[in-house]
Amino acid sequence: MLARLGIETTYYDPLIGAGIAGMFRPNTRAVFVEAPGSQSFEMQDVPAIAAAAHARGLTVLMDNTWATPLHFQAFAKGVDLSIQAGTKYIGGHSDLMNGIIVCSQATYPRLHKLWTDMGVSASSDDCFLALRGLRTLAVRLERHTQSALAIAQWLRQRAEVCGHGLKFVAGGYGVGKRDPFAANVAVRSSGESSAEARAQAALRAGSDDVRDQHGV
Ligand SMILES: Cc1ncc(COP(=O)(O)O)c(C=O)c1O
Repeated sequence: MLARLGIETTYYDPLIGAGIAGMFRPNTRAVFVEAPGSQSFEMQDVPAIAAAAHARGLTVLMDNTWATPLHFQAFAKGVDLSIQAGTKYIGGHSDLMNGIIVCSQATYPRLHKLWTDMGVSASSDDCFLALRGLRTLAVRLERHTQSALAIAQWLRQRAEVCGHGLKFVAGGYGVGKRDPFAANVAVRSSGESSAEARAQAALRAGSDDVRDQHGV
């Protein structure tokens, strides 16, 4: 879709940090960050990326769906437009069709023009469900965090899993400690062809064990 609109994209290593400055091209206008990134869950050094982008006058957009605004305050870290899939943690009950873009004062006029030109609007029912979800977001996330930690601690003892749980956060670990996002666990199997199936089986068994042990 972006290509049809004449927009070129370049993908970067999520652990690139300030090194992203070396990837900017003369026609670069924006940096789109998703942190932690879906599937592999590296936590990017968003302040370093934002500083490099702003030094070139670029706009920083962030998909902040995984961490939510409670676990990652995007604007304080230099983001200009913070994007949430409201369908996930915000809604919390799998019954909401909604996406949210929160912007800075400086980016508001451009965003406002785009959304009025496109005629985008949210239904009143969806707004109601999003507001309902926000009321319980904090308690739900706290429980998600406890569950994720319990599962990660169980997984770290399993031979079938090589880059796992708490250790896997080592992809950006220093940053992960500074900007903890919690509530998410990524698992990698040990590389043999059957290892993935074993890791999945371990996860299935583990979630039962963990539920038994921790009541999660
Ligand atoms: C991190 C993240 N952002 C955005 C989306 C898009 O969500 P939706 O299709 O509900 O808008 C997803 C969906 O999986 C996601 O995982």
